[in-house]
Amino acid sequence: MHKPQNLANDPAGDAIDVEKIVSNDKSHMWHHLSQHKSLETTDPLIMVEGKGLRLRDINNKTYLDAVSGGLWTVNVGYGRTSIAKAVHDQLVKMCYFANSAGNIPAAQFADKLVGKMPGLSRVYYSNSGSEANEKGYKLVRQLAALKNNGQKHKIIYRARDYHGTTITALSSCAQSQRKDHYGPFTPGFIEIPDCLAYHAPNGNDPDYGVQAAKELEKVILREGPDTVGSIVLESITAGGGVIVPPPGYFETVSDICRKYGVLIHIDEVVCGMGRTGKWFGYQHFGVQPDIVTMAKGIASGYAAISATVTTEALFNEFLADPSEKLHYFRDISTFGGCTSGPAAALENLRIIEEEKLLDNAVVMGDYLMGRLLELQDKHAIIGDVRGKGLFVGTELVVDRATREPVDESVAAGIFADCLQQGVIIGRTNRSFPQYNNTLCLSPALICCKDDIDEIITAMDGAFGRAQI
Ligand SMILES: Cc1ncc(COP(=O)(O)O)c(C=O)c1O
Repeated sequence: MHKPQNLANDPAGDAIDVEKIVSNDKSHMWHHLSQHKSLETTDPLIMVEGKGLRLRDINNKTYLDAVSGGLWTVNVGYGRTSIAKAVHDQLVKMCYFANSAGNIPAAQFADKLVGKMPGLSRVYYSNSGSEANEKGYKLVRQLAALKNNGQKHKIIYRARDYHGTTITALSSCAQSQRKDHYGPFTPGFIEIPDCLAYHAPNGNDPDYGVQAAKELEKVILREGPDTVGSIVLESITAGGGVIVPPPGYFETVSDICRKYGVLIHIDEVVCGMGRTGKWFGYQHFGVQPDIVTMAKGIASGYAAISATVTTEALFNEFLADPSEKLHYFRDISTFGGCTSGPAAALENLRIIEEEKLLDNAVVMGDYLMGRLLELQDKHAIIGDVRGKGLFVGTELVVDRATREPVDESVAAGIFADCLQQGVIIGRTNRSFPQYNNTLCLSPALICCKDDIDEIITAMDGAFGRAQI
């Protein structure tokens, strides 16, 4: 059983000139997803130190981080000296060489990783989730060119899913507020409907998962099966509202894809590396992917690394007589050759195994779900609670009967209230005009009951004070 870990009593490190750092930040930083006008009257949040699930900011306020670094990343928790040492030792030995050559931690991690992914055997490194997904799309486009005169080049994506921030990754993204003002987008990306039972007219039908998946077949037939190369899906939709596919969904998607020769690309950027209680989210469902992408939790944020993992069959499509000059995968990623990423990822994986964190994610995930269902009995604003393992969403509604979503400002208010209490939760944020109403929890896989009770107490108080 894991125990809560605490920060040292005294703030660690050198004396910090708080005013100077805040002033540097306000003068020169351009923060992600932030409207800086609000920072003219407030100071930015600046984090300084972490241990386990606990963080300390520059003003010595402490927090319990219930979203693993704000973005589902720090799966093994803060302050892991063994990962820092593994990275240090590798960096002093050799920090970098282009990944057209090999390096020791890259080969070692690739071997360990595919050992967790039956049916997959090739690992292509890069350094962000967006980039890993783009590699998947480039493989599909090049394969189309090599085998089908470029015809099978279209890539299908699903409503509510997110696959990254670059223009082409956004082209495969269904969250309209993330896309606003960034078009025109890359052509050849086609949307299918989501599979969220809670808002579907037929969502209570036991056959809903199969019905939702059959929308894919309609779209493939409309577009022409000869033109569709792959489908990209989050195993469990994350920022789109924590959507666990209903029973039968993935099995039916899988059958349809095999029928029309469509490759299955699963985005595990959030769910990978134990978040849901299995190594990868897709392993809960009846699907065998051709391409799997991952980032965030594979090194828990201790180094930047992402990977695009494929089958041997897909890899073999790119093998040819060297005289065929354009037949190999002509892609590169400079920082895909950093050795710090695989060194951190190897140690991260070792920790997950040694500390049995998949089991902990299942047990603590059940406990978290149970405690949220208790809150649902108490607070009418909670319309739905859904998730798997330590990845749970709480959808807020104005009225349970109509399931009308609360305004984004209500979720923002609950988030701010929890932050004030020293608990950092997540929320769907400026993704869809009407559905920014889901709170997200994804504490580190080392969390224990005391941590979860603390999160629930903060949320309980915030729900009690929420103004709808
Ligand atoms: C499911 C999913 N895929 C891809 C990405 C993009 O990853 P990155 O921000 O590392 O580019 C994200 C980021 O949140 C994500 O949630």
